[in-house]
Amino acid sequence: MISAQRSVKITGTGSYAPRKSLSNDDLAKFVDTSDEWIFARTGIKERRIADEEETASAMGTSAARVALAEADLAPESVDVIVVATMTPDMLFPSTACLIQNDLGIAGAVCLDVEAACSGFLYAMEVATGLLQTGRYRNALVVGTEKLSSILDWEDRSTCVLFGDGAGAAVLSSDSSDGATVIDFKLGADGSKSDVLSMPGGGSSIPATQDSLAARQHFLKMRGREVFKLAVKVMGQVALDILEQNDIRPDQLSCVVPHQANMRIIDSISSRLGIPIERFFLNLDKYGNTSAASIPIALDEAARSGRLKSGDTVLLVAFGAGLTWGASLVKW
Ligand code: UT7
Repeated sequence: MISAQRSVKITGTGSYAPRKSLSNDDLAKFVDTSDEWIFARTGIKERRIADEEETASAMGTSAARVALAEADLAPESVDVIVVATMTPDMLFPSTACLIQNDLGIAGAVCLDVEAACSGFLYAMEVATGLLQTGRYRNALVVGTEKLSSILDWEDRSTCVLFGDGAGAAVLSSDSSDGATVIDFKLGADGSKSDVLSMPGGGSSIPATQDSLAARQHFLKMRGREVFKLAVKVMGQVALDILEQNDIRPDQLSCVVPHQANMRIIDSISSRLGIPIERFFLNLDKYGNTSAASIPIALDEAARSGRLKSGDTVLLVAFGAGLTWGASLVKW
């Protein structure tokens, strides 16, 4: 549990969705799929697709500006920027440095965290830990993804699932207002790294004519295996964090899950015994936006009035790695 002496608050949230929307029917025009199949298997109706200017850093910056305005915090008061992404603008420098530059601030600690779809919760825990040292007061935590840039648009088993977007939160150890971060529980199992990956583009398979011809620079996934692991690890980490904090599932006002697949979320709802109505859902509009999924949903939940002062909120995610994570927040 987070030490009460230096409590960390979420003082603002923000999000950004690219303008262009791609519906299931639009997809069916160029891959062998249908709205019926996609909606029945996933719950997704449409997703946003970034244009050339909407890079991961540009979308992250837009979401960050909204979160900073909501927190009423000047960019120059940000001491730490942690960005979760698996689609950075480039391998280096970090997307956090690019966002820092876009925001026109200097001096903050900037780093990227790569934990795929669990990335935002990993980034939040890293930022919370840094704030708790007492050396920093305000952190910007961003989840941003341009997944359209790594999708194989000829692979119907993956390209229908994902979308682009960004979300952000301002965390502060310097504020008495805001939602209190209660706890985190993160984990990973690297022995399952091959079920969801992008093999090319790193140092083991750098870009060559052969790697391009072998389509190694696209996201690869064994969907059924990922599905089973997701149901198992997301349910377990949710139960673990609740037990760790002596909170019963029925005491949760809202669950903000990683928006990957409605059937996965339904099974978490059954396992926790929490009615699906208490889950905040927006995957029909955005599909799976990986590290951006939770912060976009959190921002929309907050703005739509779903989160009320005093509510206990559970955030829960899983992703490539495998990674998983959960966080409890008192709104
Ligand atoms: O953040 C983590 C990201 N990953 C996930 O969350 C993915 C987890 N996995 C899933 O969500 C599901 O496994 C999928 C939605 C990806 C697939 O659903 P499924 O019920 O596991 O389907 P499947 O892979 O077993 O495929 C069933 C059939 C196959 O045809 P046959 O072999 O039965 O003839 C596929 O070829 O559906 C076919 N299929 C499609 N048909 C129409 C696969 N993709 C499509 C498609 N449109 N887009």
